[in-house]
Amino acid sequence: MQLYYSDDGPGRIVVLLHGFPHDHTIWDFQRTTLGSIYRLICPDLRGHGRSPALAGVATIDAMADDVIELLDALKIQEQVVLGGLSMGGYIALSIAARYPERLRALMLIDTRAGADSPEAAQGREELARQVEASEDVGPVVTTMLPKMLGAATRLNRPELVAQVGDLMGRTSPSGIAGALRGMASRPDRTAELARISVPTLVMVGAEDQITPPETARAMAEAIPNSQFVLIPAAGHLAPLENPAAANEAFLKFLDALP
Ligand code: MLT
Repeated sequence: MQLYYSDDGPGRIVVLLHGFPHDHTIWDFQRTTLGSIYRLICPDLRGHGRSPALAGVATIDAMADDVIELLDALKIQEQVVLGGLSMGGYIALSIAARYPERLRALMLIDTRAGADSPEAAQGREELARQVEASEDVGPVVTTMLPKMLGAATRLNRPELVAQVGDLMGRTSPSGIAGALRGMASRPDRTAELARISVPTLVMVGAEDQITPPETARAMAEAIPNSQFVLIPAAGHLAPLENPAAANEAFLKFLDALP
């Protein structure tokens, strides 16, 4: 699967994976800041943005394999810093477990290591069927958008709320259904956290309702060489909602890497 991607800047490589159902543009604030110092590669994951959907379930491992295939196609042999937000974090954890030799460092952003509960998985399946039957992704936007952004963003930044809603609404029904089923069937990677040996940044928005700070903090505590950063005035899309604080934390972490 050939993924669409943006590729900015000089220097050591940082790959950023977006969440569901977004695309590489959620990293625009990082592209302008980090992308002037590091080579920042931001793919559109399978079934999102300009990358095509394949029929069936887009498993997290298959999406991880797509990212490795992209690095191979770009002839990238050096170890990269891999960051993933939410679903992108599930994919980053799959790469950390299955291709640890490709990583220099890890950034887990507004994400979790645990699997879905049976109820959550069932809810995703129902949503996937609804989207497929109606060919309308509206129910996903309606269900998820209110939880995706923090209270400060929802109160003060209606233009950002509209922008994220539009982005979600542009994702195709097949891309959405495939990813919903992929997330529902993902494994629990909690036990693997102790085996992550690269430096790891765990970042979460203080108002994140989908992957709350206490979940992120527990994940950081289970990873031996990790740092935990709480981003104020931000929900589940911390790097987009508070780019100044997120970029400061990213740069502090990246600039200190050996
Ligand atoms: C995401 O932002 O990628 C999703 O909220 C992840 C999820 O629904 O588990």
